[in-house]
Amino acid sequence: MARLPDGERPPADGTLPPEALRGLGAPERPFGLYVHVPYCASICGYCDYNTYIPGDGATSGFAAMAERELDLARAVLGDAAPPAQTVFVGGGTPTLLPPAELAQILEAIRARFGLVEGAEVTTEANPESVDAASLAALREAGFTRISLGMQSAAPHVLATLDRLHTPGRAVAAAREARAAGFEHVSLDLIYGTPGESAEDWRLSLETALEAEPDHISAYSLIVEPGTALAARVRRGELPAPDDDVLADRYETTEAVLSGAGLGWYEVANWTRTDADRCHHNLGYWAGGDWWGVGPGAHSHVGGVRWWNVLHPTRWSAMVEEGRSPAAGREQPDADGARLERVMLAVRLREGLALEGLGAGAAGVAAQFVEDGLVERGPLEDDGRVVLTVRGRLLADRVTLALAA
Ligand SMILES: C[S@@+](CC[C@H](N)C(=O)[O-])C[C@H]1O[C@@H](n2cnc3c(N)ncnc32)[C@H](O)[C@@H]1O
Repeated sequence: MARLPDGERPPADGTLPPEALRGLGAPERPFGLYVHVPYCASICGYCDYNTYIPGDGATSGFAAMAERELDLARAVLGDAAPPAQTVFVGGGTPTLLPPAELAQILEAIRARFGLVEGAEVTTEANPESVDAASLAALREAGFTRISLGMQSAAPHVLATLDRLHTPGRAVAAAREARAAGFEHVSLDLIYGTPGESAEDWRLSLETALEAEPDHISAYSLIVEPGTALAARVRRGELPAPDDDVLADRYETTEAVLSGAGLGWYEVANWTRTDADRCHHNLGYWAGGDWWGVGPGAHSHVGGVRWWNVLHPTRWSAMVEEGRSPAAGREQPDADGARLERVMLAVRLREGLALEGLGAGAAGVAAQFVEDGLVERGPLEDDGRVVLTVRGRLLADRVTLALAA
């Protein structure tokens, strides 16, 4: 079940401290909008995102309420609000909304902020929630990128994950998206599901590649507390994912994807070319600014983070009254901000610059080279820490040691 962090109480009108707004739109601060659509046709047992199965007609007011929060965002950010470089509509299952409502939300973003030329506009989608006609309508509305939740090509794995689509439907949806003119098509996969064999995983990767995506995300299955999957593991109905198996699957992922011409750019993400990277996520990882619209959405502007109330009814009521739907906020101190910077940068192929870290960091990084977790070249050339395949498996350990 989705949970929110603790934080201070945000002001009811959503205003931000003036220093957070200073420099908004500067080149080193990419600006994006995230929209959280909190609805799914059914809830997958492993998922702890903020999602609800909507009752009849429950989704129909969503786009109008998203417009209200965009009004608030525009008022809080003021005339300094830059045009959006990226828009990401995630969920939930955004494509449970009719394409016209997703178009309405995108139009509302255009009207209040504008989009830079060539802006990346992504929607997530479940394979069974789109067809050739809806994809054409989304492309026509200005969506440029689609991220499809394929998860696996093995029917028994999809069943354990409670997915409603066949493996073939995910591949067909990716092809339909290309035919509709989407510039970027991404597939999400999950490895390490109980009952998945090494062959099942290899088949999933190969089937995903047949769809010719330019981006693949591969996540190890996380048994999130409070989910139906966690209850099944606790009752002994399913075994917990095994760390050695997960490591093995990751190594297969790297071998199969790099063999097919896709390179990693973040620990869980591979692309054909640098242009195919998800620029919205790169903004998150580079400490950029983004406003998150919708129930439970998180935002970050100029070092201030905040998060919205979780429940759609409560969120709607607050935005309808013109109040900020934020439930809490925080401004991480210097140590917290440094740990976060290290944590995010170390996961990127570009790597983490040692400069600015503590005095012991260079020695720690050199030891990681000896241990085979960090590449020697970039560290010696310009002092950047870039993880090896084995290092990517242990990214958290490397982060903690470098930030200490
Ligand atoms: C916001 S979810 C996508 C939601 C979309 N409705 C779908 O299921 O296709 C983004 C991705 O996160 C991954 N994910 C979600 N929960 C996960 C978990 N517990 N363990 C591993 N990956 C997870 C899945 O690959 C999913 O496609």
